[in-house]
Amino acid sequence: MKNVLIIGSTGQIGSELVVALREHLKEKGTVVAGYTKRRGVPAQIRETGPAELVDILDKDNIEEVVKRYQIDTIYNLAAVLSATAEANPVNAWRVGIDGLINVLEVARIYGCAVFTPSSIGAFGPDSPKNNTPQDCVMRPTSIYGVSKVTGELLSDYYFRRYGVDTRSVRFPGLISYATPPGGGTTDYAVDIFYSAVRNEPFACPIPENEKMDFMYMPDAIRAAIEIMETDPTKLIHRNSFNITAMSFSPAEIAEAIKKNVPGFKIHYEVDPLRKAIAESWPNKMDETCAEKEWGWKPKFTLDEMVKDMLKHVRAKEQQE
Ligand code: SER
Repeated sequence: MKNVLIIGSTGQIGSELVVALREHLKEKGTVVAGYTKRRGVPAQIRETGPAELVDILDKDNIEEVVKRYQIDTIYNLAAVLSATAEANPVNAWRVGIDGLINVLEVARIYGCAVFTPSSIGAFGPDSPKNNTPQDCVMRPTSIYGVSKVTGELLSDYYFRRYGVDTRSVRFPGLISYATPPGGGTTDYAVDIFYSAVRNEPFACPIPENEKMDFMYMPDAIRAAIEIMETDPTKLIHRNSFNITAMSFSPAEIAEAIKKNVPGFKIHYEVDPLRKAIAESWPNKMDETCAEKEWGWKPKFTLDEMVKDMLKHVRAKEQQE
């Protein structure tokens, strides 16, 4: 990995991955931040390296940037999250799949490696709920999940058929303070911190005891870099590896927050759409394939993540 293009560099994952990869590669490479007209590009990203307009639906545009910067690795982070995707399934499919095939075609021609995140959303109600295996029935019921499974299959197809070096992980809900997620089922586990530091009660859209997998962003960023740097001969799987760091319900994260913010209060205003999606996803994925094949190991536990999030969200709120 030397010259990297990050498509979706201003999103929840992208904004932190650009910074981490620029730091990781230093003068050994270039990290091009691909951004869209709609979102623009923050000064911090523009000032620390090249930034280019990249429309995932425009193959020629991707190709031109890949050629000009001699890109060898593409992080394809353009996606519409689960709850938003239900409002416009056609758009979610376009970004997720028409966009992905553009990226894979350019990667095939120019010999790039490709990372496209999958998700816990790739599983469905027929998948085992606990210790959800790496390989099992998927059959998701959300358009987000349908496009994630399709993306996994398409990426494996390009590897087998053309030798494109595609690799990926199934991310759990990602918790971060730098850039907010938008329209996901797991977003509540970010929003809850803003209520906690403002001393406001939190109205939770997910049922009290509904468990899902989660991960703190520093672990997620490390996973995205580590998997692309793993010796490929060690990989039996490619698209995609189950990875997780913690599994909790709203009641459990609220308890962990209360240890630090004693007066914190949560109540439930369940959103039927998010409830249905959450119920169709695993409680806890089994991640032993990622451990064995590329040494995956999360660092942050629930309590450590909560402490760090509270510290950073407090600092952010004081600045504003
Ligand atoms: N965070 C995503 C969502 O809720 C799941 O991967 O849509």
